[in-house]
This record gives sequence, structure tokens and C-alpha cells, in this order.
Amino acid sequence: MNVVITGGNRGLGLGFTQHYLAQGDHVWACYRHDLGGLADLQSPMLTKVQLDVTQQFSDASAFPDKIDLLINNAGIYGPGKDGQSLGLVTAEVMLDVFEVDCVGPLRVVQLLQDKVIKAKGRIVNVSSKMGSSTDNSSGGTYAYRAAKAALVTVSKSMAIDLSPTGVRVITLHPGWVATDMTGQTGLIDVATSVAGMTHVIENIGDYEAGAFVAYDGNIVPY
Ligand SMILES: NC(=O)c1ccc[n+]([C@@H]2O[C@H](COP(=O)([O-])OP(=O)(O)OC[C@H]3O[C@@H](n4cnc5c(N)ncnc54)[C@H](OP(=O)(O)O)[C@@H]3O)[C@@H](O)[C@H]2O)c1
Repeated sequence: MNVVITGGNRGLGLGFTQHYLAQGDHVWACYRHDLGGLADLQSPMLTKVQLDVTQQFSDASAFPDKIDLLINNAGIYGPGKDGQSLGLVTAEVMLDVFEVDCVGPLRVVQLLQDKVIKAKGRIVNVSSKMGSSTDNSSGGTYAYRAAKAALVTVSKSMAIDLSPTGVRVITLHPGWVATDMTGQTGLIDVATSVAGMTHVIENIGDYEAGAFVAYDGNIVPY
């Protein structure tokens, strides 16, 4: 299986990369500018591709002709909680986070969709429960919540639009995971989250197109 993963150099992206390599798949792991954990991974089944999801790109030649699985994992949180409070959040912060977390995955799909269609493959967009209005009981975090909510919506449209081509699209919530994004706090580790999410991905046919699903297989109401 040919797997493409954005933000593959650390955190959940590196976890996905290790998982699919261990399974014997060929992985195209993308990194923004720093190889990070990818520097230590040497495998003939691993191709490292420099890709910043905020760049306008049109050259997909670094990727295989057929992509069985595309994981839009790259994301940013933006400023810490206070920097995203009602009083302090700025238009610039809102737009910067939106650019990476919502426009980024859309841009990558626009670049690679023909290759995913050729394989009748799967597209996974990694959002967050923070983007769920139903789950929002604490307010704040304007930029991250809004960008991840928008990604759920974009992902649903992709799922509907690509459905006739045989491509399945799903949106995932990884859980609260100990990575750099959470300051290494969290309820679960990367391996647990990746094991859960990859199980959901394997069973994508059990879910409606564009469903928003947590790492434990439960639907996230939004
Ligand atoms: N950890 C959690 O509890 C949690 C919960 C819900 C959702 N998520 C989502 O899960 C995904 C992975 O998060 P994580 O916890 O693994 O975060 P992380 O450790 O902070 O890693 C983020 C990854 O995204 C990459 N990235 C950021 N901006 C990019 C850009 N412009 N272009 C390309 N890559 C870029 C980073 O690359 P650099 O090394 O170059 O910065 C890094 O590889 C994110 O979408 C996040 O929102 C995480």
C-alpha cells in the first residue's frame, strides 16, 4: 500500500509513519523543514518529502502515481490558551491557524486527488474534538476550534464529492495525546492513538462518508 502522511517528522505523524512501515507499506512521509524523527528512520520503503502545507504547490512528482491512503495530519494549535482568548485573539492568529489546519489539507487533496482516485484510495483528515460545538463546554481557543471545525466541514464535502470515484474520506479525532502540541501531557500516548486511528482507517467502510470518528471508534457529534 502507498501511504502519504503530512507532518510525518514528529508526534502523531511520526507514529503513523512507523506504524505503516512496520506493516510493510511504502510511506511517503512529509516534513515541513526539519527531518526530526525521520532522520533516524532508514528504510527502502520510506520516502521523505519536503512539504509545507501553507505553500502553493503544483508539482506532485515526488509522490507515487497511485496513493492508497493520504493522511492529512499536519496541524498547529496556535498561541497557548490565553493567546486565543476572546480578549486577545487577533485576526492574524485566526487566519494563520486556519491556513495550516483547514486550507492545508484542502490544498494537499487538490494536489494529490487524482493519484488517490487512481487507487480508489482513502483520505483521512485529522481534526480534533476541539472543533466540535457539541463538545465545547469551556469556550476560548477561538482559532484552533474554528479551524478544526472548518476542517470537519471541508472533509465532509470532500467525502461527498469524491464518493462517486470510489474514494472514501473520513475525519479523525486522535484523543488527547502526549505530543509536543500538548506539551507532552495527555490521556494517551502516540502508540495508543495511532493503533486506534489505524484500526478505524482499516474499517472505514463501517462509517458514513465524511464521518467524524475518534481514535476509539466512537462517532464525534459536532
Ligand atoms: N496531540 C493531541 O492531543 C491532538 C488532539 C487532537 C488533534 N490533534 C491533531 O493531530 C495532528 C498531529 O498533532 P500532534 O499532536 O502530533 O502535533 P505536533 O507534535 O505538534 O506535530 C505537528 C506536526 O505538524 C507539522 N506541521 C505544522 N505546520 C506545518 C506546515 N505548515 N506544513 C507541514 N507540516 C506542518 C509539524 O511539523 P514541524 O515539525 O515542521 O513543526 C509536525 O510534524 C494535528 O493536526 C493536531 O491538531 C492532536
